[in-house]
Amino acid sequence: MSRINALAEIAPIEGGGNCRLALTDEDMHGRNLVVDWMRDCNLEISIDAVGNIIGIWNVGSGAPVMSGSHIDTVRTGGRFDGCYGVLAALEVIETCQQAGVTPTRPLAVGIFTDEEGARFAPDMLGSLVYVGGMPLEEALDVIAIDGAKLGDELVRIGYSGVAPCPGLVPHAFVELHIEQGPMLEANGVRIGAVTSVQGISWQEVKIMGQSNHAGTTPMSLRHDPALVAAEITVFIRQLAKEMGGDQVCTVGKIDIHPNLTNVVAAKATITLDVRNTDEELLKLAESKIANYLQVVASAEGVKITTRELARFEPVVFDDRVIDCVEKIAKDQGNSVQRMPSGAGHDAQMLARVCPSGMIFVPSVKGISHNPAEFTETVDLIAGANILLHTMLSLTTLEATN
Ligand code: GLV
Ligand code: MN
Ligand code: MN
Repeated sequence: MSRINALAEIAPIEGGGNCRLALTDEDMHGRNLVVDWMRDCNLEISIDAVGNIIGIWNVGSGAPVMSGSHIDTVRTGGRFDGCYGVLAALEVIETCQQAGVTPTRPLAVGIFTDEEGARFAPDMLGSLVYVGGMPLEEALDVIAIDGAKLGDELVRIGYSGVAPCPGLVPHAFVELHIEQGPMLEANGVRIGAVTSVQGISWQEVKIMGQSNHAGTTPMSLRHDPALVAAEITVFIRQLAKEMGGDQVCTVGKIDIHPNLTNVVAAKATITLDVRNTDEELLKLAESKIANYLQVVASAEGVKITTRELARFEPVVFDDRVIDCVEKIAKDQGNSVQRMPSGAGHDAQMLARVCPSGMIFVPSVKGISHNPAEFTETVDLIAGANILLHTMLSLTTLEATN
């Protein structure tokens, strides 16, 4: 808890949260602090060419059982999202060291670059490169929302390392995270044994219209990107409602240019975040949105272009890891339920290369990506204890090809 609180002292924002967008000075200060703590635990630290930091406690033999997450945040982040998973993994290693428990395999903690995707799309970029899902050169060329280039920012903050990408394949990977949603609290359950992560589709939509005088241009002659941005926002909300189930749709970002009271806008840029646990339904939502963009563009006489920012299919975790989490949570006296993850996580990328899974603890009122994000200390501790025993148990997981 003291480490969580100390990390939250770096780039604090009003309300108790943090702003450490990936590869900013604030992110660098957070990284420096956690790397110091890794050194205190005598971990072998490697930094790869996309800035992922892996700390290994080199005991036993074979590939490590790895845990970890991210310490970058969204602009209005809470103190637990990602940081909890990284610091709990470090705590697991330190606890074993202090208790004189020597696992038969190395244990490792990973801090993955730009999990949030808030500054550089896509989200989970670092872990995606780590598992070979995106070429390094492509990642280094990604341009931030503020115009900076990812590769330049890595060099600038001193985290462009020499460890190879793709990185070392773990024996197994398990990530501890706050739920970031309301289900555990609503059900009065302490632990989520995460079965899957829903598919994610992000796109940027640019709407080009005819800028003009707000007082003199008759309504019938307008080609207004601001109106179209609003119509798309309403459309995807209705689409999610009509589709029901797990479908969620969000417009989280709207830029209007020139953004002035008495000017009909020249252009609007919005982002769409569309998710579903079912790939076919996600595709259906995407195609309905694509059709609507054509309809609305011709109705208002604007030009619309789209750019994909992220696209990940739903991921199912390894049954053996899910069983292991569930059993250990129960053995330790916790209520537990199996559940999918609504948020994206580094574990969904690691699942491409090794048996992977996740442990969730409740989020009070289901609030996250908000400085008010909170989890009770007893729940954080329960999760960390389950992580400890899950990591130790996974050291004996039979290898698969
Ligand atoms: C990543 O944190 C996401 O789910 O947006
Ligand atoms: Mn997270
Ligand atoms: Mn997040």
